[in-house]
Amino acid sequence: MASSFIPFLTTAFAIIIITLLNSSTKTRGICYNSIISFGDSLADTGNLLRLSPSNNPLHFFLPPYGESFFHQPTGRCSNGRLVIDFIAESYGLPLIPPYLAGKNVSGRDFRGVNFAVAGATALDISFFKEKGIHNPVTNVSLGTQLRWFKDILPSLCSNSSDCREFLQSSLVVMGEIGGNDYNHAFLEGRNVEEVKSFIPAVVREISSAIEEIIKLGVVTLIVPGNLPIGCSAAYLTYFQSSDKHDYDSATGCINWLNNFSKYHNKLLQMELNRIRTLHPHATIIYADYYNAAMRLYRFPDKYGFKGGALTACCGAGGPYNYNSSVACGYPPSTSCEDPSLYVCWDGLHLTEAAYKWIARGLLQGPYSSPPMSTVCTLASKSSGLLLQD
Ligand SMILES: *[C@@H]1O[C@H](CO)[C@@H](O)[C@H](O)[C@H]1NC(C)=O
Ligand SMILES: *[C@@H]1O[C@H](CO)[C@@H](O)[C@H](O)[C@H]1NC(C)=O
Ligand SMILES: *[C@@H]1O[C@H](CO)[C@@H](O)[C@H](O)[C@H]1NC(C)=O
Ligand SMILES: *[C@@H]1O[C@H](CO)[C@@H](O)[C@H](O)[C@H]1NC(C)=O
Ligand SMILES: *[C@@H]1O[C@H](CO)[C@@H](O)[C@H](O)[C@H]1NC(C)=O
Repeated sequence: MASSFIPFLTTAFAIIIITLLNSSTKTRGICYNSIISFGDSLADTGNLLRLSPSNNPLHFFLPPYGESFFHQPTGRCSNGRLVIDFIAESYGLPLIPPYLAGKNVSGRDFRGVNFAVAGATALDISFFKEKGIHNPVTNVSLGTQLRWFKDILPSLCSNSSDCREFLQSSLVVMGEIGGNDYNHAFLEGRNVEEVKSFIPAVVREISSAIEEIIKLGVVTLIVPGNLPIGCSAAYLTYFQSSDKHDYDSATGCINWLNNFSKYHNKLLQMELNRIRTLHPHATIIYADYYNAAMRLYRFPDKYGFKGGALTACCGAGGPYNYNSSVACGYPPSTSCEDPSLYVCWDGLHLTEAAYKWIARGLLQGPYSSPPMSTVCTLASKSSGLLLQD
């Protein structure tokens, strides 16, 4: 009996989920009514695009960006959807609109807003100005994004107890943020000891943003760590070395750079533990982007990345198809035939296919702590249906 009953249950379950998802724009999402997102280019769904002059578009806003899913550039720094898009889909919510798109939000039909800006740093721009480090992309920091959030809050809820109730039903995704605090310094030639000295301040900035929004009433947060920068085509090109001991023989990634990412992630997790003790009613989920991505570099074939894990799909040649003076989108760069066979999209950002594996690793797999699959069981089931190959 059991053997004929189980497929029936699975089908019934699938129908329930698909019904929930189809009606998601009218009804509430699975587990949460809305998603509020902060971060940088790993999460920006169109804010930097709205901040930039349209007469001289940055390369991110030109084809082939967006080609695989949206069929046009959207402001996302990839060929398609990002981790935040897959999370929204899995929770039965619409893709989160960028704050600067100026959509008219009101409490009733609010389903989310995204404050992430490509190029944004966790620390304020003044920290880097003082050190002579230039941010070539934006002066928006996490502090700016938090101010935007506080600016729109009165349009979403009416007083502090109403706002607490409203925010209790929201999922906040805090990051990834912090990567650019290091990227700009490294790629402008600062040495690792100097850049490493920024880590405690970066982690403090992220943690004070988390505490601030918990105090406003948020009770569920996802906080991503950093990706393994030693596996990125931009870093591999910039820090190319003739000493084979610099490289991990299993992946070809640069060990000391990956150690740097691991160190940031270690301090971030220690800080999250501290905040968890202070706010035991809040659920603070660490999203382990590092290891969720690392498995793609270790076993590219297993995940379908036949184009290679380290070479960028879109670029202008060189050993990793990355040339800092000819960005993807500008001539004479070219794009690969099938981005789904590559982990790396443009040198610094990943392909939609890689982001989908990372999202799957968080939603269903072992790469979130506490596991997202236990915090919201239904969404992890729906993601099983949505995130098929
Ligand atoms: C939102 O829309 C309403 C009705 O169309 C309009 O009166 C209001 O000014 C708008 N608010 C914003 C912030 O755009
Ligand atoms: C960021 O740059 C914009 C445009 O250049 C400027 O209007 C704004 O005041 C700057 N913000 C900060 C915090 O420096
Ligand atoms: C707060 O706002 C809610 C919803 O608008 C309202 O029901 C409640 O009475 C308000 N509370 C206070 C203390 O103003
Ligand atoms: C990376 O970190 C590990 C563990 O802390 C250490 O043993 C190793 O020497 C480091 N490697 C490099 C290249 O920094
Ligand atoms: C990068 O592109 C520029 C401009 O096309 C070219 O002059 C340079 O040689 C390229 N660098 C590498 C490492 O391929």
